[in-house]
Amino acid sequence: MTEDRAAALKKIAEEVRTCTRCPLYQGTTNPVPGAGHPDAEIMFIGEGPGFYEDKQGLPFVGRSGNYLNELLRIINLDRQKVFITNVVKHRPPENRDPQPDEILACKPYLDQQIEIINPAVIVTLGRFSMARYFPDGKISRIHGQPKFMGDPVIAYYPLFHPAAALRNPELRKAMEADIKRLPDVIAEVQKRRASTSSNADDSSDSNNDGPMQQLSLF
Ligand code: URA
Repeated sequence: MTEDRAAALKKIAEEVRTCTRCPLYQGTTNPVPGAGHPDAEIMFIGEGPGFYEDKQGLPFVGRSGNYLNELLRIINLDRQKVFITNVVKHRPPENRDPQPDEILACKPYLDQQIEIINPAVIVTLGRFSMARYFPDGKISRIHGQPKFMGDPVIAYYPLFHPAAALRNPELRKAMEADIKRLPDVIAEVQKRRASTSSNADDSSDSNNDGPMQQLSLF
């Protein structure tokens, strides 16, 4: 199972490596498809690679990444156990915002990554990934408010972008308060999934790969 997911994620990474669906690949050093555990229960989705990410081919390894690491440490969440990616997989020139057509061109990769990993919680970092799940949402208004959707239920948890929080001490306070609530969001998913499965009257379910077994992340 883990191996299948790892192989499927690797295949996507290979496709991203030769992707010319939008012009962003031009002038980049490395693609940044995403990194983390193939069975991750929590997926973080940022905006797009920056300078250091482009150099290393890994997401969130620059200043924003250091801050993300700090946030994960606050809640004792091991970075190795989550999956981290972005809405666009090549660095936009001069770190400009990704354009709608670039986000659209890259969407199939992100859609497939989500389908393969099948996370219980999707944390969006910044407004571009937020817009996938909260198209009319304003980040300043909805950050830190999870939306629970689907069957099995998934929590979509919008947070500020780490770079924005680094620039603004007020946002930083909010960001830290929001991340401290992530364990509660996960617990709520567990609770809702448990009540759905007990209502489903399926006592023969012996799927040990299921999310309930894996959500012991802290
Ligand atoms: N900012 C992002 O949105 N993603 C990264 O990978 C790095 C910085």
